[in-house]
Amino acid sequence: MDRDDHVIDPARFRQVLGHYPTGVVVITAMTSDGTAMGMTVGSFSSVSLDPMLVSFMPTAASRSFAALRTATSFCVNVLAADQEILARRFARSGASFDGVAWSLADTGAPVLEGTVASIHCTFDSVLEAGDHYVVLGAVQSLDVHRPVSPLLFFQGGYGKFSIASVDDHSPGEMIESVHLAESFRADMQDVADAVGAECSALTLVGSDLTVVSTALADGVTAQGNLGSRIPYIPPLGEMYAALDTPEAAERWLGRAPALEDEGVMERYRRRLALARERGWSMSFAGEYPDVALVDALRDYSGGDLTPVRLAEIREVIRSANRYYEHRDLVDGERYDITSIVAPVMHDRDIQFVLRLRQLPRQATPDQLTAWIDALTDAAAKASQSLANALKCR
Ligand SMILES: Cc1cc2nc3c(=O)[nH]c(=O)nc-3n(C[C@H](O)[C@H](O)[C@H](O)COP(=O)(O)O)c2cc1C
Repeated sequence: MDRDDHVIDPARFRQVLGHYPTGVVVITAMTSDGTAMGMTVGSFSSVSLDPMLVSFMPTAASRSFAALRTATSFCVNVLAADQEILARRFARSGASFDGVAWSLADTGAPVLEGTVASIHCTFDSVLEAGDHYVVLGAVQSLDVHRPVSPLLFFQGGYGKFSIASVDDHSPGEMIESVHLAESFRADMQDVADAVGAECSALTLVGSDLTVVSTALADGVTAQGNLGSRIPYIPPLGEMYAALDTPEAAERWLGRAPALEDEGVMERYRRRLALARERGWSMSFAGEYPDVALVDALRDYSGGDLTPVRLAEIREVIRSANRYYEHRDLVDGERYDITSIVAPVMHDRDIQFVLRLRQLPRQATPDQLTAWIDALTDAAAKASQSLANALKCR
């Protein structure tokens, strides 16, 4: 580790401090002569809860701050990851608001549109701190407008937040799986046609189950795209986990969001054993959380998650658990099914799952049994098609 016992070179100060990232805000205000002013600032921070104070640090030489200071109030506009253009614009001295969407807040300060949040302040105090000021703002009101990833600044570049536990997909892995799934597309199409549903092939890419191919029966439109991702978190991916390596299945179980519920682990384990034994797994439709689940999975696939949204998504997935519980099919009853899933194997390793979705509603037990047979049959054929394709390589 380097130690700087003597005078530190300013370049070194910059270089070391450049290893720390910041968020990006634009401080806006109406100056005393009625001009809308904005200044991009990375040194914004929350300071005190009681009283509510925030701060930012303009350089003492800043002409923009000299003008902002003539206002009675200012607005802290927290930029979203897709607002880099605003950060660049307001990093120039005297930047105009021409072409920028904004409105005037009750406090008298301009509010930029499309931001994550805005915090309205009056000046509490302006303290001198070396070649900068520390401006303390007394918070008057505040709002979240878009709960999305904020814009971040690091070593001269702009970026956005990504959750460390959510993998970025490697395109290479995905492309390889898309190619392999081509070998059993005909088997997928057959079962989609026979059932009148959507049949997709999914595989693990990074730590997510990912759609790599979809076949549709006439009149059915695809619900997800190629590349749609499903978090490999119980109960999702149950069939895959049932035939995954024991270590991987334990890791899957370890992601169960409801560990606090005593019986839940045992139920997951029983269901894994059942799926392994039968070679298929099924989830029933319910009013809730299906809509929430569709929304959650769409947002998950879209990426750009905030930790709060990821926590909500995990909660929705957790509450989907009961739809995966085994039910005895009773003659005379009818059932709405969300999905039926069967494995595509190679050399006793799971490679893909085939998933039927958008199944006809109100199925009788006989229909369900026929669909399960058609799917497991297609999955067995797909395993054979895959083996042939791999042999030819
Ligand atoms: C990402 C980013 C963060 C910035 N943070 C600050 C800051 O914390 N304090 C500051 O004085 N200037 C900061 N600036 C520079 C000002 O935006 C810029 O100096 C000002 O808007 C225009 O110059 P002027 O202050 O001489 O008018 C930052 C610029 C960028 C691009």
